[in-house]
Amino acid sequence: MPRFASPTLEDDLGLTPLPNPPPHVGVLIERSPDGVLQVRLLGENAPGAVWVNFRSADFKRRIAEGKQGLLGRAVGLAKGEKPLVWDATAGLGRDAVRLAVMGATVVAFERDPVVGALLRDGIARGREGDDALAEALSNRITLIEGDARALFARGALDPPPDVIFLDPMFPERGTALAKKEAQLLGALCGVGGDADEDAELFRAAAALAPKRIVVKRPRHAPTIIPGREPVHRFEGKSVRYDLYLP
Ligand SMILES: C[S@@+](CC[C@H](N)C(=O)[O-])C[C@H]1O[C@@H](n2cnc3c(N)ncnc32)[C@H](O)[C@@H]1O
Repeated sequence: MPRFASPTLEDDLGLTPLPNPPPHVGVLIERSPDGVLQVRLLGENAPGAVWVNFRSADFKRRIAEGKQGLLGRAVGLAKGEKPLVWDATAGLGRDAVRLAVMGATVVAFERDPVVGALLRDGIARGREGDDALAEALSNRITLIEGDARALFARGALDPPPDVIFLDPMFPERGTALAKKEAQLLGALCGVGGDADEDAELFRAAAALAPKRIVVKRPRHAPTIIPGREPVHRFEGKSVRYDLYLP
């Protein structure tokens, strides 16, 4: 059954329209015969279906990096701490789940309902089993579907986070995610994101005064707010993590 994400949906529901309406995009959402939720972009030359599989060989390689990797060090896990991390831009959940596997307790926020549904399904399937991944997904990750800016501002979530992690959309990010995932995220969430919204998200995070804010960026991208320099950059080949302290 095709689903057409429409910028007028909020109007139809009597809600305030988002300031930056998503593009018109046709997607097909279906369950495979073995129960896996899949989303496929419609149209000519559309890539294949996307689903979330935290048990794939690719994801196992990402987990293997461990706490001494860039993400672990940026978030402060390398020192043996087990912080409460709010991942404000969960997407397909790779960073959130890597953090949970490394021992952090993660609250992951995702505002796109289709991306949120894929992630929810992937987490549920990943919980099956009795290994470290199942344990992390069962005990240390919570998904909240909604706009992190509004949820942060409401101040309804307790306890407050030690770390807020941000990985907003960015135009150059094609290399960081497999192509079809990148295309789906771009189509659903807007290729290149919105710099004003991202700056607003950073300010909403800073207002909560966590011990750390970590922003994932393509290696040569400008900072999330122009001129706002991090105290440290953890640089990899294609991405970097900008660390902000209060
Ligand atoms: C680049 S993706 C994140 C990828 C993710 N780090 C991963 O490992 O899969 C950015 C995601 O953030 C979400 N997003 C952007 N701004 C948001 C906000 N204010 N609140 C919640 N989600 C947001 C987008 O919908 C998109 O799914």
